[in-house]
Amino acid sequence: MPIKSQLILSAALLLAGPLCAADVPNPLADANGKVVTTPDAWKTNVRGQTLQFFREQVYGVRPVGKPAGYQAKVLREDPLALGGLATLKEIEITFTGPNGSGKIHPVLLIPNSAKVPVPTFLLFGFVKPDPLAEANVRGGWPVKEILARGYATVAFEVSEVDPDRADGFGDGIRAIFGKQPAAADAWGALSAWGWGASRIMDYLTTDPAVDAQRVAVIGHSRCGKAALWCAAEDERFSYVISNNSGCSGAAMARSKQGERVANITSHFPYWFCQNYQQYSNHEDRLPIDQHQLLGLIAPRLLYVASATQDDWADGKSEFESCVRAGPVFALFGKTGLESTTLPPPDKALLDGGIGYHMRTGKHDLAVSDWQHYMDFGDKHWKR
Ligand code: GCU
Repeated sequence: MPIKSQLILSAALLLAGPLCAADVPNPLADANGKVVTTPDAWKTNVRGQTLQFFREQVYGVRPVGKPAGYQAKVLREDPLALGGLATLKEIEITFTGPNGSGKIHPVLLIPNSAKVPVPTFLLFGFVKPDPLAEANVRGGWPVKEILARGYATVAFEVSEVDPDRADGFGDGIRAIFGKQPAAADAWGALSAWGWGASRIMDYLTTDPAVDAQRVAVIGHSRCGKAALWCAAEDERFSYVISNNSGCSGAAMARSKQGERVANITSHFPYWFCQNYQQYSNHEDRLPIDQHQLLGLIAPRLLYVASATQDDWADGKSEFESCVRAGPVFALFGKTGLESTTLPPPDKALLDGGIGYHMRTGKHDLAVSDWQHYMDFGDKHWKR
């Protein structure tokens, strides 16, 4: 292992302290425990295996990629939306599977002042995307602030892809493409939502106003978990933002406080594949841990944010996970986090390939969080 990676790993262990089990999986080790030392060896021997563990044990296996009957069209375009600030496109994506057909209706806004193609933030939304509705800003989509910074943005409502409720299986894409009864490793709703984001990406690659090399996925809480998994599965996303994603998102499974696998799989079993339930109170038996999910983003840009009052998500554990993902970024010649010491509240670490801050306040996606994400984008991503 290069000296730099070893240093980062030892720093991680120091930081983790007694909370941390000694047997946290090494993100650079292959299935036989051999530690790889080059990016190529990691990509060939570790990445695929890690991804497969997450598929089979946590988020589930997707039965389909871009479906054969896929179509995307712009239903309505307003070149002078928001008082002339942006060009708005209401898009409709349609697809058909063995058990029916479905639709997704993302809304895209391109700043009229920016030179195309424009880097774009894709939000996993809780509500129907409507840039004029106050609920959207409250729901974490501050479109005016995003456009003012010269970025485009597109949002979709995750429930349109697959309903966010325990009995929703029959009404979403998992029913359209899946079999009943579902296999123990069949995809859960988080993976289904990420599949939806990938279908939006399929459209974005065809829109000349969007810089498809610079599309970020962003989500808050359950949508933050989904955004991380989406980008692990789909390497076209060059920047990934996890806002307060916590348990089964950015936070470690083994050592975290607040919500644990037992809580999340009893309240939200349908987010995951059934296999995940066997790790309730047995996180130590997981073949992977969440720092390896963060490692699957490398060498792309990653930003993880926590909040001081969000004990359920456990910001310290999210930070620990970022530290532990560092060796994967180091393998690619990048610094992960710029520091292995938890920064004071509201101080953003923006210099490494992994950005991080812990906002003062509660579990939320605030405009101030967005400003940090865009600062990080300005620094490492925007042309
Ligand atoms: C619950 C759940 C969390 C999740 C959150 C949310 O609190 O336990 O895991 O992140 O909902 O999505 O708002």
